[in-house]
Amino acid sequence: MEKPKVKILGINGSARRANTEFAVKEALKAAEKMGFAETEYVSLGDYKLVPCVGCMKCFGWQHPADGGLECYEFHDDAGLLLRKMMQSDGLIFGAPVYVVGLNSLSKILMEKAHMFGPMSFTRYSGAMRYKPAGIIAVGGGDSGGQEIVGIELRTWATGLGMISVGPWPTRTDPNPQCSTYGAFPTTTDAINVYAKSGITKEATRTVPPTQGSRNMRAIRNTGRHTAYAAMLTKMGKQACEASGVMEPEIIPFPRYSIKPKRGSWLEQLMKEGKVEYVPKKKI
Ligand SMILES: Cc1cc2nc3c(=O)[nH]c(=O)nc-3n(C[C@H](O)[C@H](O)[C@H](O)COP(=O)(O)O)c2cc1C
Repeated sequence: MEKPKVKILGINGSARRANTEFAVKEALKAAEKMGFAETEYVSLGDYKLVPCVGCMKCFGWQHPADGGLECYEFHDDAGLLLRKMMQSDGLIFGAPVYVVGLNSLSKILMEKAHMFGPMSFTRYSGAMRYKPAGIIAVGGGDSGGQEIVGIELRTWATGLGMISVGPWPTRTDPNPQCSTYGAFPTTTDAINVYAKSGITKEATRTVPPTQGSRNMRAIRNTGRHTAYAAMLTKMGKQACEASGVMEPEIIPFPRYSIKPKRGSWLEQLMKEGKVEYVPKKKI
């Protein structure tokens, strides 16, 4: 029997090709070393991402969002990235800490992933459910906001139905690690704080290079556990389907007061009897 494989997508949310890129790539390498994961890497700085203006067209409520995975207001590259996310079995999302929170570039992609969300009347609603999300937040400071970015990324992933994966210590990379509830490396002790690989052992100023060692352990463990969790989900789903165990049927609202546009996903849901059209006054 052919060994099953999973695909892990690594996203560098920094416009720079520096520490976050390095961290995401190291996590992907650790995932590949598990022996069953293929990986793809993207850097958001290479894509055109126009900030969300809240038109809500992609929600599919009042405007049919059935043309495909894309931003319905601007012709940017959001759709390309969303498709890569959907085709993956798990994500490793790395973001830099900017001003004690997420940087804006990462946030644009997160905003544009609303089609996958539970409030979306599109065929893409729920497409990321049960996939693991490994989270990396890189900061220039010790506790410089990495945990805040971690909460933002983790909560966003949970909102899309994903399962967040932490850097549980392993035999290869035991404790101590830089963090527990995500990989939260820092460059504080780097020879050059804003260098491109300031999170590594080699770039650590003090001897022994504790900071770099703790950073890299958490990053690699995040990669390993994300790959394994992706396999668990993939094989678990297949086993569930084979044994007739069904996942809960998702639907944003069973009754809706706006008449669907012809040919829309919402119209199809109504035809299938999953959503009932109820005029506004009666709701
Ligand atoms: C505008 C800006 C704001 C920043 N704010 C913080 C911060 O609040 N906390 C922190 O720890 N580091 C902060 N940093 C440092 C970055 O997180 C750090 O340089 C990180 O390595 C950036 O990731 P990159 O190397 O992948 O670009 C900030 C950097 C910039 C450019």
